[in-house]
Amino acid sequence: MTPAAPSARYFDGWYADMAGSAAKDEIMRRHLGLPPYLLATSSLGWEGIGEVTEALRLSPGDMLLDLACGRGGYGLEIATRTGTRLVGVDFSAEAVRQARGLARRLGRKADFRIGDLAATGLGAGSAGAVLCVDAIQFAEQPDAAYGEMRRVLAPGGRVVLTCWESVDPDDERVPGRLRRVDLGAGLTAAGFGTVEVRERPDWRACERAIWEEAAAIDPGDDPALQSFRDEGVRSLATFGLIRRVMASATAPLTGAGPLNPGGDPVLPVRSREDTDVGWGGQAEPDDDERLSRECPPHWDSA
Ligand SMILES: C[S@@+](CC[C@H](N)C(=O)[O-])C[C@H]1O[C@@H](n2cnc3c(N)ncnc32)[C@H](O)[C@@H]1O
Repeated sequence: MTPAAPSARYFDGWYADMAGSAAKDEIMRRHLGLPPYLLATSSLGWEGIGEVTEALRLSPGDMLLDLACGRGGYGLEIATRTGTRLVGVDFSAEAVRQARGLARRLGRKADFRIGDLAATGLGAGSAGAVLCVDAIQFAEQPDAAYGEMRRVLAPGGRVVLTCWESVDPDDERVPGRLRRVDLGAGLTAAGFGTVEVRERPDWRACERAIWEEAAAIDPGDDPALQSFRDEGVRSLATFGLIRRVMASATAPLTGAGPLNPGGDPVLPVRSREDTDVGWGGQAEPDDDERLSRECPPHWDSA
């Protein structure tokens, strides 16, 4: 049986702990080759961001949905590179709060909102592309999450996911949530076309280095480092049993279908006026001075 997925409350605590600890972010950034402003909570490195961006095939003005966006770093980076509008959705209110604070500090307009992998609250066909980095394994019902990706995508829109899959889905040493990840099957069942799943073995060297450093940490009384160390120990134990994957697919050009339950016509929505998302005005005061870092030049012209 698949263990219950961690709750939004669990992730709220995880993010709150991280906000008070610079050490974990420093280790992650160093191994992943990320700049200081890019707050990530997964292991997609700088080169991987380039591959993901290319696979999303965004055009300026498109709306990019970063699903399970966490603190928003990847979505903000890709939206900046591509001149697209960003909506980030996560079920952790604390992650959304930190993502809004990051966008505000970087002078970026973005709409970060609370929502679920399977119920984003966005309109059908409202997204030009969907990104989901290292989070689909947390979906209570993965099929519903893939269905939601298809529902919100405009016809012809792209979805890109990164995750891990079990080398042997029956290997009980691999956590149950990862054993059921099958990106190709999930996307295909949801009705996507041109489904492509690529193994990314070259992303794994820095991942291993992260977990080796994490597992050797003396965390003291820093709760972020304590959970990082535990994650490192667990991840090293199953490192060779899983493979790193990136999947991409295209929403069909005919939008109507069984995954559009309201029967709404699914129209490509590319302009700001046509979407139901708000821009700016979402930022909240943020007391996390630790994260107030210098913005790189290419972020200044939002
Ligand atoms: C490993 S983190 C990745 C965050 C972000 N994508 C990144 O790479 O920095 C997993 C994220 O999934 C979010 N999450 C887990 N289950 C979710 C759900 N059912 N709906 C929305 N977000 C969820 C968590 O709150 C967390 O932010």
